[in-house]
Amino acid sequence: MPDKTVLIVDDEPKMQRVLEIMLKQMGHRPLLAGNGLEALEQIEAHAVDLVVSDLQMPQMNGLQLLEALRGQDSDLPFIMITAYGTVESAVEAMKHGACDYIIRPFDVEQVELSITRALELGRVQRENRFLKSEVSKGWGEFVGQSAAMRQVYEHIGQVARGKTNVLLVGETGTGKELAARAIHQASPRKDALFVPINCAAIPADILESELFGHTKGAFTGAVKDRMGKFELAGGGTIFLDEITEMPMPLQAKLLRVLQEGVVERLGSNRPMEVDVRVIAATNRNPREAIADGKLREDLYYRIQVFTVELPPLRQRLEDIPSLAGHFLDKHSAKLGYPVPDIAPAALACLQRYPWPGNVRELENVMERAVVLSGGEHVDVRHLPLEIAEHAPYAAGGNAAPAPADPAGLALDPAVEALEREFIGRALEQTGGNKTRAARLLEISERTLWYKLKKYGLS
Ligand SMILES: Nc1ncnc2c1ncn2[C@@H]1O[C@H](COP(=O)(O)OP(=O)(O)OP(=O)(O)O)[C@@H](O)[C@H]1O
Ligand SMILES: [Mg+2]
Repeated sequence: MPDKTVLIVDDEPKMQRVLEIMLKQMGHRPLLAGNGLEALEQIEAHAVDLVVSDLQMPQMNGLQLLEALRGQDSDLPFIMITAYGTVESAVEAMKHGACDYIIRPFDVEQVELSITRALELGRVQRENRFLKSEVSKGWGEFVGQSAAMRQVYEHIGQVARGKTNVLLVGETGTGKELAARAIHQASPRKDALFVPINCAAIPADILESELFGHTKGAFTGAVKDRMGKFELAGGGTIFLDEITEMPMPLQAKLLRVLQEGVVERLGSNRPMEVDVRVIAATNRNPREAIADGKLREDLYYRIQVFTVELPPLRQRLEDIPSLAGHFLDKHSAKLGYPVPDIAPAALACLQRYPWPGNVRELENVMERAVVLSGGEHVDVRHLPLEIAEHAPYAAGGNAAPAPADPAGLALDPAVEALEREFIGRALEQTGGNKTRAARLLEISERTLWYKLKKYGLS
């Protein structure tokens, strides 16, 4: 894990120099401070990944610096250097949240090891924070009371309690990830991590080390030990999305891990027991995937102990009104519009369209309708053409049916609404900085000025 910013805090220039050279050799970026106060300034100004601080210093010593940082709720990794004979202060530092201490005189290797470990710790902490916030996203978000969905909820409830592996099957956008999070949240493992990994999004040659981790030197580029997602998910749930995109040899290895309950980091021969529930998902028919050589049959039997099928939206049209209402609420709130109501004719269109992209597509269509209607009344003209053409009055006619409201297909007002929306978002993201907003919008600053004026936004 080279290329980290490490702050050296020491009042002796000679010590600073030694550490600085060492860090550069390790491939990190050293910053220097002569005492605790200077260190706080540096931390304020730079994204520091690790602090290596001497204990005895004028003005503000190492312990005071550590206390100040922890007082600010910072969990920045911190290594304390103390002189021989002051072990008590090293212990004191650990109590105040230092992750390691080094006693002078030290040898270089020991310091290098300590730095590497501390940086790894910082990474894991960040990853955990990220994943914990991921978990809070799901569960309880399911909408729809069709018989088909009620059966899904029942299955989720049944399977959640145990530890059996689960296979989720369903077309794109049917809610497989939502179901996986729901199972985790309803399970006794809910306080441990839910770790999603999309097998299609990660290059095949990295996927193995992502899953199982590696030791330093296991392959070119493995410059440090790294924990895999299986270890990270220990006690919790791993979600293997798009399992049929996993290379076949890796599927064989995964099968062994599932059979033996043991993982090994690449390059290590130290097996570790892991207690992980596996939920896998695919938007393909598993039988066909097996026939096509995309899914190992033995792995399939291992993970399909319990299969939950997410039905396509076109087979549960009765869920559409509540889903549409749910997404209108969600997106009008997000965009700061009033909640629009929806015309019966528009709803009828939604219920006649086959929804190849399922619930995700419906959500996108409703978000767009909120924007185009300005949060007022969603009508057929606020729907994309391929959906609007399912309007009841268009059915059965021989001649090309005229839209009920010819003005409703006019491009200009639609384009204007979208432009306003995108410009608003760009300004929001850049905190009102017009130069950067123009760059995001991929238009010139001049054009942005013009449009702001035109829409009365400036
Ligand atoms: N029944 C539902 N109620 C409410 N929201 C849903 C429902 N089903 C899906 N969604 C929402 O639709 C979107 C797509 O769902 P999700 O990502 O779980 O689908 P997926 O099956 O994993 O799709 P893909 O195969 O494309 O990855 C998400 O924003 C999800 O919150
Ligand atoms: Mg998904």
